[in-house]
Amino acid sequence: MHTHQSPVVYRLAAKPDVPERLRSRLAADFDRFKAGLPADVPAAVREAYGVDLTGEYAGRAIRVPFGKASGQLSMTVDAVAADVAVGLGFVVLKTVIGEDAAGHRTMEPWAVRASAMKVEPVVSRSGKRGWTVTWKGRGWDKSFDAYLELYRDALRVGDAARVPVAASIKCHLPPVGEPFAEAEYAHTLQRLAAVGGKEMIVEKDFSPTLAGDARAASLEAVERWLAEVPKLVKAQVPCTLGLKLMNALHGDGLQVEMVRAATTSGADFVVAFNRLFDPKRGVAYGGWDLSDRNLRVLDVCQGLSRSPRISATGNICSGRVMVEYALRGATSGQIHTFFQLPLSANPATAGSRSARALHALLYHPEEGIVAWMLSLGEAGVVQPREGLLHFLDVAHGAARHAA
Ligand SMILES: Cc1cc2nc3c(=O)[nH]c(=O)nc-3n(C[C@H](O)[C@H](O)[C@H](O)COP(=O)(O)O)c2cc1C
Repeated sequence: MHTHQSPVVYRLAAKPDVPERLRSRLAADFDRFKAGLPADVPAAVREAYGVDLTGEYAGRAIRVPFGKASGQLSMTVDAVAADVAVGLGFVVLKTVIGEDAAGHRTMEPWAVRASAMKVEPVVSRSGKRGWTVTWKGRGWDKSFDAYLELYRDALRVGDAARVPVAASIKCHLPPVGEPFAEAEYAHTLQRLAAVGGKEMIVEKDFSPTLAGDARAASLEAVERWLAEVPKLVKAQVPCTLGLKLMNALHGDGLQVEMVRAATTSGADFVVAFNRLFDPKRGVAYGGWDLSDRNLRVLDVCQGLSRSPRISATGNICSGRVMVEYALRGATSGQIHTFFQLPLSANPATAGSRSARALHALLYHPEEGIVAWMLSLGEAGVVQPREGLLHFLDVAHGAARHAA
């Protein structure tokens, strides 16, 4: 493997070390904002705590690092508008299955209609209780035209608030020895670009069900996809391209190799990493097993000679987990499960699921991002610049601070 010795990633303590003078303020804000977040969260956090929450997604500055991951919660313009209004940093739309001009889809099996989703508790191998969504569906199951309409409307809403909105695609992934269906990439991307223009952000989804599919059994096939897909996409249209990597059923070594391949192939960023796949049950799952694996692999990725630009995904259920990913280079976090919990699972008492989740992600006195940024400041892992502790400084350098 092409890795150098991995630098040691800073290890968080069990509890954040919040400076005495801010502790009661944080507890009071946590209580006060249960009924509703301040209208301008970034400004409120800057002024009260001296913390700049600006993150980065697809090369764009975002107001907080937390965004909506691709999936069942980003399928309507109303859902996107609500998330933009709540203050999320960015939104990735549901994955559409690519098609050629004749409407033929090589990844047709991924366009299945969904059964009901079940949000359920799950205990990890390390014994921690978390949440997972059990579901047998896959990609967007309406027409491509309907997706383009969603994309157009969602971009309008996002642009008005300067919130990036990304499209997500799944196009042909051939077995070794077979050519890529270029016509499918061409048609899908050109039609998306007709809506999104040169500023278009596209994620290419390598999903957990793909990890369990015979197509992904060959390492050679996977490596070829990662090397070729960015070239194929960029040959069609200018865009900012993210590769959303699956958690392969192989060991951590291959996972690191996938990141290395994606980083050197012309992709602009990687999304690390989609849910785990349980081949026995035939379902994808998340919870702490997912973040434990993702963080472990990203630890090793610190030693890659070329650093990937990372948008994290996987069990971001607290500001603390977001900071864990940031310590390994992630400048943003994409959330699905935590935005889908029963209303009673979060301490907030009003607002949408996204709003309630954001309240806990930000202000929880022991698990929130404000508490953990202050704690990193106390530990000297981030130093204030112009009087502010910057979230992006964690992502851009803190991994080099040994514990
Ligand atoms: C019900 C469900 C549907 C999903 N659909 C997609 C999808 O269409 N495309 C995609 O890239 N990821 C999809 N995902 C993955 C999520 O975007 C996310 O990356 C993953 O669930 C890990 O984040 P989480 O632990 O916050 O859920 C889906 C996840 C769930 C739970």
